[in-house]
Amino acid sequence: MTPSRSSPPTRSAQDASPALRPLSTFASSAGCACKIPQFDLSAILSKLPAASDPNLLVGHAESDDAAVYRIPGGHAVVQTIDFFTPVVDDPRLFGRIAATNALSDVYAMRGRPVLALAVAAFPMKVLPAEMLQEILRGGAEKVVEAGAVVGGGHSIDHDIPLYGLSVTGVVEESRITRNKGARPGDALVLTKPLGIGVIATAAKNDQDRLKAMPEAIRLMATLNRDACDAMLEVGAHAATDVTGFGLLGHLRNVCAASGVSARIAFKDVPVLEAARTYVREGIAPGGTHANWRFLNDWVTYGPSVGKEEQLLLCDAQTSGGLLIALSAADAPRLVAALERRGTPCAAIVGDIVEGPPRIEVG
Ligand code: CO
Ligand code: CO
Repeated sequence: MTPSRSSPPTRSAQDASPALRPLSTFASSAGCACKIPQFDLSAILSKLPAASDPNLLVGHAESDDAAVYRIPGGHAVVQTIDFFTPVVDDPRLFGRIAATNALSDVYAMRGRPVLALAVAAFPMKVLPAEMLQEILRGGAEKVVEAGAVVGGGHSIDHDIPLYGLSVTGVVEESRITRNKGARPGDALVLTKPLGIGVIATAAKNDQDRLKAMPEAIRLMATLNRDACDAMLEVGAHAATDVTGFGLLGHLRNVCAASGVSARIAFKDVPVLEAARTYVREGIAPGGTHANWRFLNDWVTYGPSVGKEEQLLLCDAQTSGGLLIALSAADAPRLVAALERRGTPCAAIVGDIVEGPPRIEVG
């Protein structure tokens, strides 16, 4: 199913444990689908005291992708942390995907990543140490590609493997794109197709008969740097990356923070073809169903949008693309800038309208 089963990280590792347990079987849900559901998380965080430092420009109040802290000279530090369980069996690919996903939160805020620290948990008694090395190697490769550096990290011996990064970025204070800031009249632009969660779940269950996983892996390991650069070139009012809460979940956060409503046209949303097929056959991660249930209070679906389409819009993406709100007049220029850079997709998927934080899908 995945490269690691036919080509383990090292010969000696395979010889030592002929029945090496595939990485992706250690956790019941993988990648961003293992996030704590938004509903539970909001309840937990709401009981915590609000941060009060005036230099904390972005804290957890609006469910933003990263914290932003003002430093002297008109700049700010963007700080984020993201880690999860293996979404593929190949350790190096897992490292690449997890690092790409962690770096994404800095790009969503229009920051430039500069420094990363690795966070890892690994079952040292069950799996060969070389495998952890490969995970870290894959992650470091992506950090280098992003123009940043790994400065160290922290690891623990633990029965379920986890990997990710805490990433520090820098951003000009005036250019921060957060959830807040979307305005009526804005267009919504998406830079990677949906369906990654559905396909990863199919692969995990050995049901990926359309062999869609390599394409999903390519997407998950594609940095959102080009999308960020295009935003820097054209401008944007708000942005977020589409990960565990799905397109609609992250859009809901944008609407709530910005005090606006949104409309999504399902026919304009790029979706991986195999994901459409699999979701019709009942394949979707638990996180996607949790998103769908949570979002029922926030989303109105038109009569042409069936349950399968709804699930795809709620699909928990691992390392998904950016969702960008910018004035409709500028949107074609952003699409052109994205296409010039070759982002996985560049699609206007809906718009922002006045109203309470709700989403209408037609
Ligand atoms: Co994010
Ligand atoms: Co994140």
